[in-house]
Amino acid sequence: MSQEPDYIRINKANWNEAAKIHFEDPADWYKIGPFLAGQDVRFHVDIEEMGDLSGLSLLHAQCHFGLDTLSAARSADRVVGLDFSPVALAHAQELAEKCGLAHKARWIETDIYKAHEVLDETFDLVYASWGVTGWLPDLAAWAKVIAGFIKPGGRFYYAEGHPCSFILEEVDGRLTPMTPYWHREPIIETADHSYNESTVKLENRVVHCWNHPLSDFMTAFLDLGLELVFFHEHRVIPWRMFPSMQRDERGVYSFGPDGPNLPLGMSMMWRKPAA
Ligand SMILES: C[S@@+](CC[C@H](N)C(=O)[O-])C[C@H]1O[C@@H](n2cnc3c(N)ncnc32)[C@H](O)[C@@H]1O
Repeated sequence: MSQEPDYIRINKANWNEAAKIHFEDPADWYKIGPFLAGQDVRFHVDIEEMGDLSGLSLLHAQCHFGLDTLSAARSADRVVGLDFSPVALAHAQELAEKCGLAHKARWIETDIYKAHEVLDETFDLVYASWGVTGWLPDLAAWAKVIAGFIKPGGRFYYAEGHPCSFILEEVDGRLTPMTPYWHREPIIETADHSYNESTVKLENRVVHCWNHPLSDFMTAFLDLGLELVFFHEHRVIPWRMFPSMQRDERGVYSFGPDGPNLPLGMSMMWRKPAA
C-alpha cells in the first residue's frame, strides 16, 4: 500500500478532529438544527448561483460532513460526497439517515487526487465550496480530477475565499500582507480552535495549506478546455476570516458597509463543452 504524503496525514488528523467538533456544533454555527427542520443551509451565494438542482446528478468534492451535500440533495436527483476524512463521512451518513435522504446520497472516502481510482462516473453538476483548495498543493491536478467527473455539457460550481484576502492578516486592527501572493511552498498554520466558534481545544493543531493565485484557477480550467460561465467576487464569506468581522443571523461574515473595500470571496461556474 502506498504511503500517504506527510501533509495528507497531518491535515487528515486535523480534519477528523474538526469534523467531530463541527458535528457536535455547540454554537449552532453549522445550523444542523435548521437543516433537520427542512432549511437549505448552503451559503446564500451557493444557493443563488447554483440555481435549480431538480433532476440533476451532483458530485460534491470535499463534502465534509455532508450538510451542504444533503441540502442540495433535497432538490437534486442524487448526490455523491467525496472526502478524505472517515469521521466526516460517518457523520454525513448519520445525517443522511436522520433526515431521510440516505436513499439519494452516497459517500466515498478518498484523497481528492485519487478520486478517479474509486469513482468511475460523470455528473451533471460538480460542486465544491468555501475552504476547499487551501489544503491542496497542486491546483492544476485538482482541476483535472474535477473536470474528469463532469458530463459533457455539465458544469462545475466553485466558491472560495479570495486569494487576495488569503494573504492578509489583521494585525493591531490593520489588514497587513503576511504571505506572498505567488508562493508555492506550504504555509504551516497552527490553531487552537476550529472556525465554528467552538471553545473545544484541538489536539491536532497543525495544518499544511497553500494559497493559489487567481490566475492559477483560470489557467487550470481553461487549459482543460472548460468554458467560463461566470466569475464573481464577494464582500462576504461564511467564516471569520479576520477577527473584526461581524456575523449576521444568516451566518454571513463581512466588515459591514464602512469596513475595508476588499474581495473576501469568489465564485465561478465552468461548463464542459457538449461532446
Ligand atoms: C472546509 S471543509 C469543506 C467546506 C464545506 N463547505 C463545509 O464546511 O462543510 C474542507 C474539507 O476538505 C476535506 N479535505 C481536505 N483535504 C482533502 C483531500 N486531500 N482530499 C479529500 N478531502 C480533503 C476535509 O476533510 C474537509 O472535510
